[in-house]
Amino acid sequence: MEKFASANTYLETNRPDRPVWGVRPHAAGRAARWFLKHFPGEVAYAYKANSSVFLLGALFGAGIRQFDVASIPELEDAATIPGVTLHYMHPVKSRVAIRRAYHEFGVRCFALDSEDELDKILGETSRDGKAPKDLQLFVRIAVPAKNSRIPLERKFGIAGAKAAKLLMKTRQAADELGIAFHVGSQTTTPDAFRTAFAEVHKLIVKAGVVIDGIDVGGGFPSTYIDSAPAPLSAFMDTIRTAMEQLPVTEACRLICEPGRALVAEAESLIVRVDARKGSDLYINDGSYGALFDAAHLGFVFPVRLVGRPAESAGPLAAFELWGPTCDSIDHMKGPFLLPSGIREGDYIEIGNLGAYGRAIAGGFNGYGKYDEVILLDEPFASVYGGPGDGRIATGGK
Ligand SMILES: Cc1ncc(COP(=O)(O)O)c(C=O)c1O
Repeated sequence: MEKFASANTYLETNRPDRPVWGVRPHAAGRAARWFLKHFPGEVAYAYKANSSVFLLGALFGAGIRQFDVASIPELEDAATIPGVTLHYMHPVKSRVAIRRAYHEFGVRCFALDSEDELDKILGETSRDGKAPKDLQLFVRIAVPAKNSRIPLERKFGIAGAKAAKLLMKTRQAADELGIAFHVGSQTTTPDAFRTAFAEVHKLIVKAGVVIDGIDVGGGFPSTYIDSAPAPLSAFMDTIRTAMEQLPVTEACRLICEPGRALVAEAESLIVRVDARKGSDLYINDGSYGALFDAAHLGFVFPVRLVGRPAESAGPLAAFELWGPTCDSIDHMKGPFLLPSGIREGDYIEIGNLGAYGRAIAGGFNGYGKYDEVILLDEPFASVYGGPGDGRIATGGK
């Protein structure tokens, strides 16, 4: 893939017709190195967040060797990376998926949140009617979402007496018994983890079982215009302290599965303005593409004018964005601050879109096709203490 110093350098010689991914593998590598150094346990990347080979290569190069997968296609892809361990942490899996994961791909670590799922896992991993002795089973518990942009608590997780019962039953079958939770994606304060650990503590006492592993899931934040998180180091401190207070032995594993925090900074999208109507800009990607979270969850991604000097285009003004399809829900309300003189034919770089942007993009109306380049400059903002730490740049430099 071609490399450019920045989106502006790329646009000096290109006027792309399609939206263009600006991939920054160095940002993913930096994030992974930070997590491997500061998380007080094992780090598994949540594959669903972004499976660009350039980012996977950067994560692998930084030392990531564990991946959390959520489907058979993800498993098939991730299994091509040599020497990695794959965990299947989706609490609801089809029988075929469990069977293939265990027998074909060597997965041993599974999440579950019901007795039915436990029965499915045991049924599909048995050989000649005998249950396997090498299963690592993590019971996913429901924990309250606090300051999370995308709570996951209603869809997954078991709680209270039912959770204690499931832990006891799973203990009979598991070689390693774990407890997993997810505080919700883009959780901006570490108290969500403190509360989750308090639930874990209560459950371990209630169930009276030995716990071999705690999986704190993902949820670690990135930075967006409308979402400034507490420093990541505060999350690490909270988790370290909470882990020390649990009634588990020193041998108990601690695992995390960050998706967003490892890749959000590592991709921008360069889009073109195809029309302007007052403060409405019609661009060539939208809610059916990489901007799903901007349209449906109200994320305000950082933006800047690229391809010509921002200073030449006037002071910043608030804009709403509309995607290219014929559908009226293809709308990103923002507000997105861009120079007031922005016009048809201009390009905008939309930043910190590496988590779930590419992964979600579909092909409605024939869109959903992107060009790609590597960008060597820094992301708009970084939670990793690099240049631009936590600050969102809006200029067109
Ligand atoms: C089981 C599991 N682990 C990890 C993640 C990654 O979460 P995040 O991107 O918020 O770090 C998710 C996201 O949905 C998940 O469902």
